[in-house]
Amino acid sequence: MPPTSRPDPPGLLRLIEWYRGSARDLPWRRPAFHDEFGAWGTLVSEFMLQQTPVTRVIPHLEAWLTRWPTPRALAAASPAEVLQQWSNLGYPRRALWLHRAAIEVSDRHDGVVPRDVDALLRLSGIGDYTARAVAVFAYGDRHPVVDTNTRRVLARAVLGQAQPGAPSRTDLDLMSSLLPEQDEDAATFNAAAMELGATVCVSRAPRCDSCPVRDSCAWVAAGRPDTGDVRRRQAAFEGSDRQARGAALRTLRQAAPEAVPLASVLREWPDALQRDRAIDSLIADGLAEADGELLSLPR
Ligand code: ADE
Repeated sequence: MPPTSRPDPPGLLRLIEWYRGSARDLPWRRPAFHDEFGAWGTLVSEFMLQQTPVTRVIPHLEAWLTRWPTPRALAAASPAEVLQQWSNLGYPRRALWLHRAAIEVSDRHDGVVPRDVDALLRLSGIGDYTARAVAVFAYGDRHPVVDTNTRRVLARAVLGQAQPGAPSRTDLDLMSSLLPEQDEDAATFNAAAMELGATVCVSRAPRCDSCPVRDSCAWVAAGRPDTGDVRRRQAAFEGSDRQARGAALRTLRQAAPEAVPLASVLREWPDALQRDRAIDSLIADGLAEADGELLSLPR
């Protein structure tokens, strides 16, 4: 079915057809996933996908939803169980937020993930992106969904810039102005812009030759000016506080439900100040609990 009619100055609506033929087959894009897990499945997948690549998320997502197929099921778990199941997925505060959101959904929304964007925004750990992703991908409503990949696509295709500026409200307004009228087309357009940014319109070496909107891309028309800081490096993980926190948390997960002597956590860590900082910050973030000379996952 062709996309519904709308003035199409940038030719971007071709993205919809491209997506239908070329999108990756990912679990949360299959109808069976929605039949089985509904909006809860979308919510969990979006929490996991914040900061983590798709290929790492998939096995964790399946295990998680098998264990806790509803918000109420997760709400009944302990924080320690939640952190153990989160395992090595990284940024473990997301696990505690997801747990808290499940409790809020159970208490405030009768165990059903809300559809309303403002209600979603009031849940723990949910920001502009995730709230709209749930409303659009789970419920089929018409909202702009803007992640970092979409921002890059908009920067290039519409604004003619190599890289997006700082995130702002205008990203949502711009995406809103481009959405097709029909809810279903709008949802597909949102997913297609993200997918293009993830697979074709990538940051460092965009594959313009295989881009479905190349002919209408403002950046290509301008000769692909390279004005952005395309070589922004990820902060090094090796030797970082994040690495120390991850190692300490792994010790606690392995020992759970038992506590471990505080002195044994990161005992061999080369930097004693970093060790203390890592343990203090785990406690401050609610990821660990100290009881005298013992440390454990939160109970
Ligand atoms: N589809 C819906 N949300 C997604 C995401 N965050 N990453 C990849 N594909 C998605």
